[in-house]
Amino acid sequence: MLKNKRAVWAIGRRVYMINQIKLPFEETVYISETYIETCIAIETMIVRGAGSIGAAAGFAMMQAASEAQKETYKDFLLNAKNKIETTRPTARDLFAAVDRVYKKALISVKDAESEAHAIADETSDAGRKIGEYGNELIKDGFGILTHCNAGSLALVEYGSALAPIIKAHQSGKKITVYVDETRPRNQGAKLTAWELQKAGIPHFIIADNAAGLLMMQGKIDIVITGADRIAANGDTANKIGTFEKAVLAKEFNIPFYIAAPDSTFDKNCLTGEDIPIEERSQDEILFISGIDVEGKEQKIRIANLGSQALNPAFDITPINYISGFITSQGIKKELP
Ligand code: MRU
Repeated sequence: MLKNKRAVWAIGRRVYMINQIKLPFEETVYISETYIETCIAIETMIVRGAGSIGAAAGFAMMQAASEAQKETYKDFLLNAKNKIETTRPTARDLFAAVDRVYKKALISVKDAESEAHAIADETSDAGRKIGEYGNELIKDGFGILTHCNAGSLALVEYGSALAPIIKAHQSGKKITVYVDETRPRNQGAKLTAWELQKAGIPHFIIADNAAGLLMMQGKIDIVITGADRIAANGDTANKIGTFEKAVLAKEFNIPFYIAAPDSTFDKNCLTGEDIPIEERSQDEILFISGIDVEGKEQKIRIANLGSQALNPAFDITPINYISGFITSQGIKKELP
C-alpha cells in the first residue's frame, strides 16, 4: 500500500483512489471531483476489488447527494443511484453500499457523508479481523495459493484473502505464496505480487494453468481467495479461474477457503445461478498491456487477427468445493 493511504478515501467532495490501472509500474492517485468521475473509475477499473468498489460506490452516492440541487434533489439521487449501479454488476458490495448511502442521502447530505465514510471504515476493519482469524489456518512452512487480487487494493486497507497471509508472515511463520497471474487482466501478476513484495513475503507468480502440477508436487497446503458475491447457499462468485482451482484442491484434498466481509454475502441470491456474471471487453483477451524494456507503456495484440474472444470476468464455485469462509466474525464451516 502507498504510505499512509487506503486504496480509496474521500476528503470533502473529492474521492481519492490508488490508480490500479497504472500499478505496478507507477504509483499514482486518481482524484475524482464528481460522482460521474467516480463511476468512470469503477467502470475502467482504476478502482477494483469488491470491497474497494463498494467504498468507491458509497462515496459516489455521497458526491451525488452534494451535487444535487434542492428542487430536483430526489430525482437526481435516484438517477445517480441507477447510474452507479450499472458500473459493475457482480460485486455485491457495490449494491450494498449504494443502497445504504442512498437511504441516508434521502435524510440529508451530512447523513450520506457519514454513512459513506462508515462503509469505508467498516470494510477496512473487516479486513483486519479476517486477517486475525484467517491466520489460525496457516501453519509455519505452508505454501499458499491465491487467485486474482484480494489484498489491500481490493478491500480498502487490509484485504480479504491476503490479510491472513500478511498476518501469518508478521507473526513469524515462514510461508511461500503462489500467485496465479490471473488472465486476462493479470491482477495476480501485477497487483498481488506488488503487495506481497511490499510486505516482504516470499512469493512466485505462476501461470494460471500451473496450479495442478504444484498441488500434485505437494507445494500447496491451502488455497485462499476472496469473493465478489456469496449466495445464500454459499455458492461463491470470484474472478474467472477460481472454480478450476477449487476443483483441483478437492481432488488433492487441499483446504479451499473464501475470505470475505459481511457486505459480500447476498441473501437475495439463493444460489450461484442468481449471481450476475460480468462480461467484459474482448480486448482484455486479445491484447496485453505492460511496459517495454525502456519502461514505456505498451498494449500489444497477442491473438490471431480476426478471431473473437469470450470474456466472462467471474465464475461460480459451488459450496461443496468450499472448506469454509473466513469472515470478520471468525472461520465458519457452515454459512454465516
Ligand atoms: O474484476 P475485479 O478485479 O474487480 O475482481 C476482483 C476479484 O475477483 C478478486 O479476486 C477478489 O477476490 C474479490 S475482491 C476482494
